[in-house]
Amino acid sequence: PAPLKVALLGCGVVGTEVAHRLVTHADELAARVGAPLEIVGIAVRDAASPREGVTGTSLEPLLTTDASALVRGADVVVEVMGGIEPARTLILQAIEAGASVVTANKALLASDGPTLYKAADAAGVDLYFEAAVAGAIPIVRPVRESLAGDQVQRVLGIVNGTTNYVLDRMATDGLELEQAVKEAQALGYAEADPTADVEGYDAAAKAAILASLAFHTRVSLDDVAREGITGVTAADVAWAQRTGHAIKLLAIAERNVRDDVAGIQVRVHPALVPLEHPLAGVRGAFNAVFVEAEAAGELMFYGRGAGGAPTSSAVLGDLVSVARHRVLGGRGPVESSYADLPVLPAEAA
Ligand code: HSE
Repeated sequence: PAPLKVALLGCGVVGTEVAHRLVTHADELAARVGAPLEIVGIAVRDAASPREGVTGTSLEPLLTTDASALVRGADVVVEVMGGIEPARTLILQAIEAGASVVTANKALLASDGPTLYKAADAAGVDLYFEAAVAGAIPIVRPVRESLAGDQVQRVLGIVNGTTNYVLDRMATDGLELEQAVKEAQALGYAEADPTADVEGYDAAAKAAILASLAFHTRVSLDDVAREGITGVTAADVAWAQRTGHAIKLLAIAERNVRDDVAGIQVRVHPALVPLEHPLAGVRGAFNAVFVEAEAAGELMFYGRGAGGAPTSSAVLGDLVSVARHRVLGGRGPVESSYADLPVLPAEAA
């Protein structure tokens, strides 16, 4: 079969890793898809600036600054540039041109997911985004597809590696917050602006995406009550330990928290987790998502939530799925029809 044309948008840590793995694992990926995957271009803002792992390799000639042109000629568009614009416009252009889309863009999905879902459904193309929540951990697909026949009651997640690392360092070595944040930045877990991590915005975006999928409703970033970890001191962490708890920044989405009205609540805040709970044992920059469903009972998903290689695993898994649909026909889940489940205001604890 003819190769599928793959356009990459963005060549940061994740994009570079995705491009390399597409080249080095080309044969296995072609076998899994049923057709070769050909990178037709990598859109970047500045094609001349030197890039580690790209400059001087076979990837360098693929760099282009004309993302719009690249998107229009592609079978699959992989968006790993991040940020709202131009990612949003480019994804919509790709969908309109009939391309399938894989994105890691949590901010965009949390703020404007329904627009993208609707466009993809209207065009009959796939929109996959496993990498947008908790990096390498398969959590989007389990919640979106595997549990689609069940009733999810509650989702509890440690979905930000930076804050989990920081709280862990405060617990094990008595570090104060600022010092631990600096370490997390040096290790490359933190967002470019670590405020997004420590103030809970990154976790809130992931909570909005997970809640939308788990409860088949629309939840945006604005619906999520949010409190970060900046108020947590080394003394708080030590006190929690003495009383048999770990302090964790939890993303919580639950249904039917009130007796008088059906609905869901979504919030992010530091929580005291009893040391016996599996979430208390999640160390360092790892992430974990604990799901309670009516028929399935309790489930836990655990792994690396950040970093180029782990995130590229999720992106490439999505790429294989959407590419296979293009070869064999069919498509993934449809998201534009929603249950009418209201999001109730939640107070951050
Ligand atoms: N800054 C994020 C984290 C990266 O620390 O988890 C992954 O979204």
